[in-house]
Order: sequence, then structure tokens, then C-alpha cells
Amino acid sequence: MRLVRPDTKYKDSYLAAIREAQAEGRKTEFDFDLAENHFERFVRELNEHAEGKHMKEGYVPETVLWLVGGMEYIGRVSIRHRLNDHLLKLGGHIGYDIRRSMRNKGYGTMILKLALPKAKELGIERALLTCDKTNIASRKIIEKNGGVLENKGPNPEGGPDKLRFWIDIA
Ligand SMILES: CC(C)(COP(=O)(O)OP(=O)(O)OC[C@H]1O[C@@H](n2cnc3c(N)ncnc32)[C@H](O)[C@@H]1OP(=O)(O)O)[C@@H](O)C(=O)NCCC(=O)NCCS
Repeated sequence: MRLVRPDTKYKDSYLAAIREAQAEGRKTEFDFDLAENHFERFVRELNEHAEGKHMKEGYVPETVLWLVGGMEYIGRVSIRHRLNDHLLKLGGHIGYDIRRSMRNKGYGTMILKLALPKAKELGIERALLTCDKTNIASRKIIEKNGGVLENKGPNPEGGPDKLRFWIDIA
């Protein structure tokens, strides 16, 4: 298993993962229609997120990496290069998800472990990780990777309380 830059060679597997997410009714920040219909452009734009391009107003540059095994797409991690006010309160430096069919096999724990040195390369010495209080799996992933809880608070955007953790990677 390794983290790679998004690449068109994973097209079949990535699109299968997207369909799993759609079946689950999950919203993601990525554009399903673009991926389905213009995969090359989708991948190019995803990689250009690192330069702050093709992102919503107010979003910071992020490096997107895919966890793959052979030619199989397993999950993705987004490492935001810095915190803005929203990320400091709610989103954190690093977000991840593991495709539905690959969950509960340790890959969530692995993707964060592999992402931390990449975050360090980007100059992040203390990474902020957040999760919903109800997201037991994500909490375990963060704690197994050295996350220290700073606080818990209501999410002003609604939903469960947010937990905020710091991971020292200096
Ligand atoms: C959260 C997520 C990344 C977990 O990925 P995963 O590959 O299943 O995680 P792991 O297999 O490494 O499991 C981590 C721990 O959570 C536990 N776990 C997994 N799924 C669980 C669930 N649904 N409920 C409770 N515990 C769960 C595992 O048993 C493991 O516990 P252990 O450390 O005691 O062995 C995955 O469910 C996902 O992509 N969810 C949607 C996106 C998301 O929530 N991202 C995180 C946002 S903060």
C-alpha cells in the first residue's frame, strides 16, 4: 500500500469507488460528474489543488493523495497546507476517507499514518485533526496516530459536536 498523486491509470477503480460513495448517498467535495465524464481533466485539476487552483472561494491549497494497492484505489487523503479560520475551528489540516468496500481493514489508520510525513514535508509541524464526536472509527484513527484531544465543542453548522486533536509531527 502506498500514497500516490492522483493518476489516470487508477480510473476504473476510482470510478467504482465513486459509485460506492453514490450508493451510500455520500456527498464529497469532489465533482462526481467531472470524474465520470472527463477523468483526465478531473485528475489534473485535483493535482492542481496543491497550487490553490479549481477550489471554492476561501479554500486553501491542499495536496490530495490516493492510497492504492497495486492498481486498486482504496482511499484518499487531503492535506491542507495551512489553516484558515474555518479549518482551525472545524476542518483541521487533514481529511480522509476510505472507500466503502475497504473499510474496517485498518486502511483508515494506515492512510493517516502515511499522510503525516507528507504533511511534515509541507512544513506542518503540528497537525490539527477533527472529527464528529459520533465518528468512533475516525476518533480511533486519530488517537492511534498520536492525536491529543484539545477540546470538544458544538458545530455551529449543525450536527454532532466536533472533537479537535493535535498531532505533533515535528
Ligand atoms: C472513518 C473511516 C475513514 C474509517 O476507515 P477504516 O478503514 O474503516 O478504519 P480502520 O479500519 O483503520 O478502523 C479504525 C478503528 O475504528 C474501528 N471502526 C471501524 N469502523 C467502525 C464503525 N463503523 N464503528 C465503530 N468503530 C469502527 C475499527 O475497528 C478500528 O478500531 P481498533 O483501532 O480498535 O481496531 C471510514 O469509515 C470512512 O471513510 N468514513 C467516511 C468518511 C469519514 O468519516 N472520514 C473521516 C472524517 S473525520
